[in-house]
Amino acid sequence: MANESSAQVREQAHKRRSIAVISHPDAGKSTLTEALLLHASAIGEAGAVHGKAGRRSTVSDWMDMERARGISVNSTVIQFPYDEALINLVDTPGHADFSEDTFRVLTAVDAAIMLVDASKGLETQTMKLFDVCRERGLPVITVINKWDRPGKEALALVDEIAERTGMRSMPKTWPVGEAGFFHGLLDPQHQTMQRFRRTPGGTKKVVADQLSDAQAQAEYSDAWATAKEEACLLESDAGSYDRRAFLAQEATPMFFGSAVQNIGIEALLAFVAEEAPPPGARADTDSRKHPVDEDFSAYVFKIQTGMDPAHRDRIAFARVCSGVFERGMVATHAQTGKPFATKYAQKAFGRERETVDTAWPGDVVGLVNAAALRPGDTLYGGQRTVVYPRLPHFAPEYFREARCADAGKHKQFRRGIHQLGEEGIVQVLHSERRGAQHPVLGAVGPMQFDVVVERMRGEFNAPLHLDVLDYSFACQIDQEAGEVLTGHRDCEVVAREDGTLLGLFPNSWKLRSVKRQYPDLTLEPMRGIA
Ligand code: G4P
Repeated sequence: MANESSAQVREQAHKRRSIAVISHPDAGKSTLTEALLLHASAIGEAGAVHGKAGRRSTVSDWMDMERARGISVNSTVIQFPYDEALINLVDTPGHADFSEDTFRVLTAVDAAIMLVDASKGLETQTMKLFDVCRERGLPVITVINKWDRPGKEALALVDEIAERTGMRSMPKTWPVGEAGFFHGLLDPQHQTMQRFRRTPGGTKKVVADQLSDAQAQAEYSDAWATAKEEACLLESDAGSYDRRAFLAQEATPMFFGSAVQNIGIEALLAFVAEEAPPPGARADTDSRKHPVDEDFSAYVFKIQTGMDPAHRDRIAFARVCSGVFERGMVATHAQTGKPFATKYAQKAFGRERETVDTAWPGDVVGLVNAAALRPGDTLYGGQRTVVYPRLPHFAPEYFREARCADAGKHKQFRRGIHQLGEEGIVQVLHSERRGAQHPVLGAVGPMQFDVVVERMRGEFNAPLHLDVLDYSFACQIDQEAGEVLTGHRDCEVVAREDGTLLGLFPNSWKLRSVKRQYPDLTLEPMRGIA
């Protein structure tokens, strides 16, 4: 790449902030997404994205089931400018069970906004997500949401984060008034207060007045004094804001607010624009780091089908890691070595599509009808081969045997199961014992199976029958162990579509008994990401 365009790529990359909002379900992720877009003027009225009853039509809720359950299943990528930055907000699936899919999205961003419900503190999914972020080396910004209603004490939440995640909190805003009696936010750095005036239903931008220390003292004497004292206590305990500690995941910048009231959003956006990391060099399978200004490279982190029921389409979402993506360019598909033409590339904003002509490091492009691409695949533009590491899997904990419920629909059944496996909705496992017609489905949570049944029926026209299998964990095993254990009555050997072998066990007693029988085999239950 010529020097001039290298500089241009670096400049464009430097502007990008690719982030995801993550949380335990119901903490307010969709509401916060709306609020961020509203403040960045990417949408005119809150409700346009989440599509609550009585508000405008939805932008990111695609499936019937999403509406029925009120959860967000699909991921959307939305790009909007804020100050000097260009923010790529990658939406993540909302339910606790969709961990594998969520995990994949987290490989495509450079920082995460962790939303915590003020009254609930750190929930199961919050903890899992903190772990994933640590594993990925992803800096985390913590937002304590729903401060407009009664909840835990701010300092108690700080302690909980420190105890359970090992990260210290660096308050960038601090609440004036306890949860449920919220007057505004203290800016600990400038010792000023932002006071918010609520708007009906929170659908319009809130107007915030800026109060000086003296004004805040005069109007909110006790609450203001407490807020200052607490913020000061925290700073003397944990030190002041330190960007290095944020990027190194030693500490998390902390914000308070109310997504539904649009309170505290401006400060969060300003922080993302100023402090969140831009895309950096990414390591390939040989641990060689590719700086952003090298030739074009990208990897596919997500495959999505059925986004538009009118067109049976399949979109591969690729994150640009280096260089410039130009629509129409012919890249090389690293996994096959074949050329890949990028004629149809889109930005995705819910149902609305927009063609993307150019994309820079940190951006996400939707490659339409890219049948050859699989999640984890790499595309590169230069002469030199680039292969980024494959996407890891979550350890499955729930298992079902799938059967086609309509004898005439075997073809649709096979296609659908394969597709949903590729999307990361469920892990598809094959067992000699059951044969190809009866794959085993593995999930991190049981709700993933509801999604499979629903999509198989609605999208692939292949009604499905699922039988519960009494396994509760899996061990990754090698070929030799696979041969030894095939047919064993206390365990079942299955193969993932990528060829990895897993031994499934009903409980730890059976595992111990198999271990006693074969002391030379390494049998360790998979945990978290594997
Ligand atoms: P999710 O995507 O994380 O699952 O959460 P979502 O935004 O759907 O929000 C879950 C519920 O929490 C919604 O209520 C939403 O209105 C509410 N909520 C979000 N942010 C705040 C906040 O700052 N304060 C308060 N008090 N509530 C908040 P719902 O009853 O499920 O829906 P709705 O009918 O109220 O819209």
